[in-house]
Amino acid sequence: MPFHQVLLLLFFIFSCLFFVTIQSRHHYGHSEQEQFHIVSHVSHPPSLAPEPAVAGPSYSVFNVLDFGAVGDGVTDDTQAFKLAWDMACQIKSAVLLVPDGYSFMLQSTIFSGPCKTVGLVFRIDGTIMPPDGPDSWPRNISKRQWLVFYRINGMSMQGAGLVDGKGENWWNLPCKPHKGVNGTTMPGPCDSPVAIRFFMSSKLTIKGLKIKNSPQFHFRFDACHGVRVESLTIKAPAQSPNTDGIHIENTNNVQIYNSIISNGDDCISIGAGCYDVDINNITCGPSHGISIGSLGINKSRACVSNISVSDSVIQHSNNGIRIKTWQGGSGCVSKVEFSNIHMEAVRNPIIIDQYYCLTKNCSNQTSAVVINDISYSNIKGSFDVRSPPMSFACSDSIPCTNLKLTQVELLPAAKGRTVANPFCWNAYGTVLKQTIPPVYCLMEETNATIDNTLLCG
Ligand SMILES: *[C@@H]1O[C@H](CO)[C@@H](O)[C@H](O)[C@H]1NC(C)=O
Ligand SMILES: *[C@@H]1O[C@H](CO)[C@@H](O)[C@H](O)[C@H]1NC(C)=O
Ligand SMILES: *[C@@H]1O[C@H](CO)[C@@H](O)[C@H](O)[C@H]1NC(C)=O
Ligand SMILES: *[C@@H]1O[C@H](CO)[C@@H](O)[C@H](O)[C@H]1NC(C)=O
Ligand SMILES: *[C@@H]1O[C@H](CO)[C@@H](O)[C@H](O)[C@H]1NC(C)=O
Ligand SMILES: *[C@@H]1O[C@H](CO)[C@@H](O)[C@H](O)[C@H]1NC(C)=O
Ligand SMILES: *[C@@H]1O[C@H](CO)[C@@H](O)[C@H](O)[C@H]1NC(C)=O
Ligand SMILES: *[C@@H]1O[C@H](CO)[C@@H](O)[C@H](O)[C@H]1NC(C)=O
Repeated sequence: MPFHQVLLLLFFIFSCLFFVTIQSRHHYGHSEQEQFHIVSHVSHPPSLAPEPAVAGPSYSVFNVLDFGAVGDGVTDDTQAFKLAWDMACQIKSAVLLVPDGYSFMLQSTIFSGPCKTVGLVFRIDGTIMPPDGPDSWPRNISKRQWLVFYRINGMSMQGAGLVDGKGENWWNLPCKPHKGVNGTTMPGPCDSPVAIRFFMSSKLTIKGLKIKNSPQFHFRFDACHGVRVESLTIKAPAQSPNTDGIHIENTNNVQIYNSIISNGDDCISIGAGCYDVDINNITCGPSHGISIGSLGINKSRACVSNISVSDSVIQHSNNGIRIKTWQGGSGCVSKVEFSNIHMEAVRNPIIIDQYYCLTKNCSNQTSAVVINDISYSNIKGSFDVRSPPMSFACSDSIPCTNLKLTQVELLPAAKGRTVANPFCWNAYGTVLKQTIPPVYCLMEETNATIDNTLLCG
């Protein structure tokens, strides 16, 4: 769109906003002076004025307050965000600003692209939050996701702000598998929203934010290419169900760095169709650890490869580094490297579980997602003695192959307790340097290795 048209459009939008805002201000009984302030925004839209303070290429700042957002934590600010987004999305270089000192309540929203913006920045310095719990969620809007970014090519979401998922009333839904008042309740069909979901997008950076108490996963990336996540703080209570920190699926070229995650499910979970993923310097726990899977549900095909998890700490978690697959699936997990990971009182520090099943009575199947070429090096620390420190429960029909262990030293967290031996079932591999406790149960490689290598392509 040519520049003068943008100006016209802006003027039009601000004119509309003017009336809407004045009306709503009246409604909330604000002073004449505040209304005047709004008028000044109309005559001088800040949006197109290049920021003089910033050197380099000029860009425009779209502050949601200038689009009618109130930020009192109660008023629905969704429309203001949408207007700001639509404007920011139209120009070459833009910052959508969520300013410090305000709390914005947003309904479930899809921020769609493609945008014309080359360097779009979604800057969150204030707080954003969804409606409070399932009762406040509009009936006709999907309960599976809150904020969705769709078909965005190149965006940075950053800032010192907070995304507060207000998940508590969702976690307490009776259908959730978690420790309720009267013990564990069974899982049932019930949706809760992922806080922030990126879908079919690329060149994304998520940096510096704090996010807490999502109703379900905190971040989810589906079918994305090129994702860099760094310096996040993700926090939810240890008992909150399904509150994974970052879930990726059908997504490749991913870097997740320097983040602190504690929650009620996996810190990071890697689903089907992910490859070229680098995870480094994560402090994880209390949580369920860092997982690949679960894969192969309902006989589905899942391929995951070239995953690295390094220089991280996993503490007070019921799993450390885990690969979990359902029976009956197909596809392959290969080229996975876990290195330099410190465990602290982790219940299953190293685990492969090819019998993953939520109901404990899944029927036995002959096919399986193949597991090949997984290396564990320099994994040290302590484990919760209720489970073996290492467990490789591979499929009956298709063994795990090419497992490599070196410098694995795991000591019981509670001294003087009887410790279960490492467990292997149909697992092939090599111990390059003796581990603590020693692993004698891995079988020597045979031709199965070659078969699996072929199966994994
Ligand atoms: C949901 O319903 C409300 C009022 O009933 C309506 O204003 C809104 O447009 C609907 N939203 C969708 C996405 O259908
Ligand atoms: C817990 O069990 C008690 C006794 O059976 C019952 O009275 C109470 O309503 C239950 N609470 C919930 C939240 O289900
Ligand atoms: C690792 O991440 C933490 C934040 O969790 C950060 O303070 C620290 O500087 C990072 N370490 C390196 C070597 O980047
Ligand atoms: C594995 O992924 C990394 C990025 O994490 C990438 O640099 C590397 O080229 C990939 N290796 C292969 C063999 O594709
Ligand atoms: C698996 O299949 C069951 C029964 O057909 C279905 O209810 C469930 O939604 C499926 N799960 C997934 C993740 O596709
Ligand atoms: C597993 O057990 C549950 C409850 O005990 C039952 O509802 C379900 O049908 C069983 N599933 C299979 C696959 O047998
Ligand atoms: C599956 O196989 C295992 C081991 O052979 C056996 O112990 C278990 O009972 C079987 N489960 C079912 C549901 O058939
Ligand atoms: C491996 O395969 C070769 C050729 O197919 C066969 O001769 C050999 O006996 C096999 N070795 C084992 C241990 O199965």
